[in-house]
Order: sequence, then structure tokens, then C-alpha cells
Amino acid sequence: MAEILPSILSADFTRLAEEIAKVEKAGISILHLDVMDGHFVPNLTIGPPVVSSIRKITKLKLDVHLMITDPDKYAPIFIEAGADQVSVHQEVCPHLDRTLRMIQSEGAKAGVVLNPSTPVATLADVLDVTDYVLIMSVNPGFGGQRFIPNALRKVRALDALRKESGLQFAIEIDGGVNLENLGDVVRAGVDWVVAGSLVFHSSDPEATVRQMQQLARQALTVSV
Ligand code: DX5
Ligand code: ZN
Repeated sequence: MAEILPSILSADFTRLAEEIAKVEKAGISILHLDVMDGHFVPNLTIGPPVVSSIRKITKLKLDVHLMITDPDKYAPIFIEAGADQVSVHQEVCPHLDRTLRMIQSEGAKAGVVLNPSTPVATLADVLDVTDYVLIMSVNPGFGGQRFIPNALRKVRALDALRKESGLQFAIEIDGGVNLENLGDVVRAGVDWVVAGSLVFHSSDPEATVRQMQQLARQALTVSV
């Protein structure tokens, strides 16, 4: 069953605890936190103190997406702050095998993220040490961008690889998910669907997450 992971990037940061409580009520289990450094992506967001504050107000698993040039230096700091799972971009990790093992040895699940221009094939030799793969369906840096359809082809390729290899990694997608493309996303093989602006720019984030959960369930039960 595909899960919905609200991304707080589009939440009201002056009322973060209330915003998180709203989506928690929908019965989610993982919250997506976007960390940007102004170098790898042209935007700046939150650091370890905010993750640590969020850790204190929720039991949800915290999925920290590092859009930073030096994940080896900062991943342990985010894990110490309360991250349960940390993803790093393939594009900034020359020693990806080492980075993934380091994250696991620090006690978190290790994920790899692929930008829209990075092929799935680059992960062939690390999938056995990868807990999850995050396929970017927008160029990272901002919420509210348009979904890049080629991401679905990449998800299908990964799902096929997963079946062939018998490996258990989860597949996550991030960026531009809306009520129209959610069904295709789930049918392509995604386990974790990140959604930011759709959820937090809606008038009722709890109801929006519930609606997404229902569409995700239907996508796998209704044949088309
Ligand atoms: C973008 C971030 C996303 C962002 C998605 O770089 O990684 O997690 O919050 O936002 P939406 O769902 O609005 O595209
Ligand atoms: Zn993200």
C-alpha cells in the first residue's frame, strides 16, 4: 500500500506544530523534511535545530531529504537531531557506497535521490545497501513545480529491477504530485509519495491527505 508523506516545505512555518498535527490526524506514519543549502540547490531551508524541535512534538518517522553538497559531514548531525531516515543525492556522492553504509551505521535508514537528469542505472551497484530510492519528479529546490512525466519511466525501471533482484528497497517520489497524476504514480510502483503544496496549500490538509490515501488505495484495486 502506497503511503502519503507530507512535506512541510509548503507549511506555515510560524505554526509548524499545528500544521504537523493536522496531517498526523490523517493517519500518516512518515513526515518529509527538505534540507537545502543554497549550493546544491538555489534555496535555503531548515537545519538540525528545526529537525530537533520537530522531533520533540511528534512520533512520526522523520524522512530527511538532504539537498546539500556535503551530506557526509551533515547526515550524522541530522540523525542525532532525530532523523529516522536520511536521503542523499547521487550527484554529490563520489563514494556513495560508503555514505550509505555510514548512514546505516549511525542508526538511520539510508536513501539515494536521483535528479530528473540522473539515470537509474547509476544505482545498479549500490541497490543492495540502499533502504530506499527517491526519484525526483521536479528539479529540486522549490515546492509547487510541475511534475516531469519521465519520472514514471524511472520508477517502473526501478520496480522491475527490484523484482528481478529480490531486493527490498522502497521507492519514493517527490515533486509535482497532484490528484490527477497520483494514480499513475502509485501504479508505476511507488511506495512513498511526497506531497507539499497540494497538502499544505489546501484549506484542509487532513482532508487532502485522506483524499490522497483513498486515491492511492483505489489506484491499486480498480483495474483500468
Ligand atoms: C522540492 C522538495 C519537495 C517539495 C515538493 O525540491 O524536495 O519535497 O516539498 O513540493 P510539491 O509537492 O509542492 O512539488
Ligand atoms: Zn523533498
